[in-house]
Amino acid sequence: MAGKLGLWKKIEIVGDLAIIGIPFDKKPEDMIQFANEILKEMPYIKAVWGKYRDVEGDYRLATFVHIAGVNKSETLYKEHGCVYYLDITKVFFSSKLSYEHIRVANQVKRGETIINMFAGFGPFSILSYVKGGARRVYSIDINPYAYYYMKANIDLNKAYGVIPMYGDAFKRIYDIDEKEIDRIIVPLPEKGEEAYEVALQKATSGKTIIHLYAQIDVKKDEDPIKKALEKYPKAFFARVLRSVNPHVYHVVLDIKA
Ligand SMILES: C[S@@+](CC[C@H](N)C(=O)[O-])C[C@H]1O[C@@H](n2cnc3c(N)ncnc32)[C@H](O)[C@@H]1O
Repeated sequence: MAGKLGLWKKIEIVGDLAIIGIPFDKKPEDMIQFANEILKEMPYIKAVWGKYRDVEGDYRLATFVHIAGVNKSETLYKEHGCVYYLDITKVFFSSKLSYEHIRVANQVKRGETIINMFAGFGPFSILSYVKGGARRVYSIDINPYAYYYMKANIDLNKAYGVIPMYGDAFKRIYDIDEKEIDRIIVPLPEKGEEAYEVALQKATSGKTIIHLYAQIDVKKDEDPIKKALEKYPKAFFARVLRSVNPHVYHVVLDIKA
């Protein structure tokens, strides 16, 4: 029974889709009965998808298996007053980043010029514009589907100060022709170290804020925050987002360049 309750707590709801993690000792077909119970208990859910834990490749995509309900993976998802159109199987999605989206947008001051190097379907960028009142948010992604959904989401939220840019942020960032950048969002922990160096090239010392999502390797009993602050001494804020394994953490740092 406790195991079942645990499963209910772990359901991720994205619009009218429910995502359930597939435990390492189970197969998708073992989850069919539970998925059907979800459909019965939550009538607004149209499809249940199983998700394997790891994300892979440049696009940071998880592997999904359709388990029950309508076979669809596109949905409309609401977060902090904005609405996003996305396909959970084609673009990176994590409800764990929801708090980060609003935490960053709450720091944005009216009129700011921002770069989001790894924008996905657009949540950091669109909220920074809609809620934070940014002037421009240059938003890059290398996944063509992320670019497609980001453009749709700009329209859906009338976030016309968000400039979608398709391609490799490590190159495209140099196409941004602005004198001063107030803020650079760098949400790709696996390449955080290299991306931080590139972000610094576009930053103004003592002015630009960099929100760096970093991957921090630790030894046994080592504190990931302490390690992160040693590595990025200009950071004025740090918090752990998740532990990838006992020796690797994702840590967000707010840094004044
Ligand atoms: C962790 S996701 C962040 C998604 C988004 N910021 C959010 O809050 O949902 C990282 C994103 O970086 C993109 N990406 C990976 N390598 C890239 C690169 N070299 N240039 C631009 N985008 C890249 C992936 O396609 C993915 O959408």
